[in-house]
Amino acid sequence: MRAEEVCFSTMESSTISVPYFLYHLQSMKTDSIVQTIPLSGRKHSLIEDARRDRESGSSSPGPSRCGDSFVFEEEKSGKVTLNILFALRNEKNAGFFKAGKVFETFEAKLLHLESRPSRKSKKSGEDDLEFFMRCEVHCSDTDIFINSLKRVADDVRIVQEEKIPWFPKKISDLDKCNHLITKYDPDLDQDHPGFSDPEYRKRRGIVSELAFNYKHGDPLPVVEYTPEEIATWREVYGTLSNLYPTHACRQFLEALGQLESERLYGEDKIPQLGEVSAFLKERTGFQLRPVAGLLSARDFLASLAFRVFQCTQYIRHPSAPMHSPEPDCCHELLGHIPMLADKEFAQFSQEIGLASLGASDEDIEKLSTLYWFTVEFGICKQNGTVKAYGAGLLSSYGELLYALSNEPQYKPFNPAETAVQPYQDQSYQPVYFVSESFEDAKHKLRQYSSTIQKPFSIRYDPYTCSMEVLDEPSKIQNALAQMRDDLKILHKALERLGQK
Ligand SMILES: [Fe+2]
Repeated sequence: MRAEEVCFSTMESSTISVPYFLYHLQSMKTDSIVQTIPLSGRKHSLIEDARRDRESGSSSPGPSRCGDSFVFEEEKSGKVTLNILFALRNEKNAGFFKAGKVFETFEAKLLHLESRPSRKSKKSGEDDLEFFMRCEVHCSDTDIFINSLKRVADDVRIVQEEKIPWFPKKISDLDKCNHLITKYDPDLDQDHPGFSDPEYRKRRGIVSELAFNYKHGDPLPVVEYTPEEIATWREVYGTLSNLYPTHACRQFLEALGQLESERLYGEDKIPQLGEVSAFLKERTGFQLRPVAGLLSARDFLASLAFRVFQCTQYIRHPSAPMHSPEPDCCHELLGHIPMLADKEFAQFSQEIGLASLGASDEDIEKLSTLYWFTVEFGICKQNGTVKAYGAGLLSSYGELLYALSNEPQYKPFNPAETAVQPYQDQSYQPVYFVSESFEDAKHKLRQYSSTIQKPFSIRYDPYTCSMEVLDEPSKIQNALAQMRDDLKILHKALERLGQK
């Protein structure tokens, strides 16, 4: 019996029992005088919350203790499930019957049984057998049950089962990736600019309801924005547009130009998700779905694996047009959307999402940190200078100026180092990571992802928008056959080019 088999068999049934605390990182603080005005608003950070999840262990229902033994899946009925390994000497089946008697005595419900020649017996030449049993016993009987088994069997061990956190397998499963964080909610956070504005809170409730009711396959909701909301958008759009030509990366400028030339973007209207989603879908396959607020890190990253970006539709409070403690449509539409129209960046974003599926809480925290220093606050080299591609920068006038000044420290993007870099959520980042190119960043990220410990591999099927868990040789062979067909097409194309 391989430990992976135990782990893997639980993938479908295991669930995340407690919602993760946070997701989306950001603050859209945009001070106009960069060097003299400190960042006063705390940035929302998914890293902090992923860390809290890891430390509390709340998201992964791992083994719990009962008596002195590790047990798994403590049931409401008082029953626990044990995975037990033990060996029996060749005693003409006597040991097997004695072990069976122990099971009978404790009314242990046998769920699974495997046997194989003992590894020790291979050396000694004996015919001993090793057994793996998965059984259900009453929690209070666990210790005495194990001790009784030790009297009739050798090398009795409890196999610690690794729990795989639930993750979406098909795109409609994203309807379940809706664990919201209410920390920055204007109804609950006294520091939120809209906390004392009942009209704003009421409006937020109406827009949030659209997202709450959304299911995969529904038309994306249309929000009829008010003149006051459009005025806020105009101020943000106009202010940031002054910086983009000199501070934003080429890919961002190209996509923004396309969005403006197709009249999807402009100062006088807040773009609708449906139109923007269609724009992205045509270019990179990314699509949008509405979200009512901050999502957990795990849920948000999982969406990226399907090339789905969860996007807020409400807008920040008009009293603070250049600052929002939470993501809003200004941050999403100006910071994220243009970048998601670039093929390399889209692939990079999906790679982070794929790496997150089934990852441990510790790895989710690292991936969240990687996300923070790339997708939110990333800088890249272009034509001998540095440009911004992170949404947290491109939607923040103050930090965009600061990040490309000579004040902060720059480090080359190195996922292993970036993933553990302390981040700053109360002021601008003291360090930014510079990518050589998105392709280079994607390559490095892929190498890093391969070091994340998982007992399975996943392949995204773009035809069915689903995740294929490669747990059988036939699945790997099918994937290889598809690749061979693609390679034949490329080979033929090269031949034709050579004939010209
Ligand atoms: Fe963001």
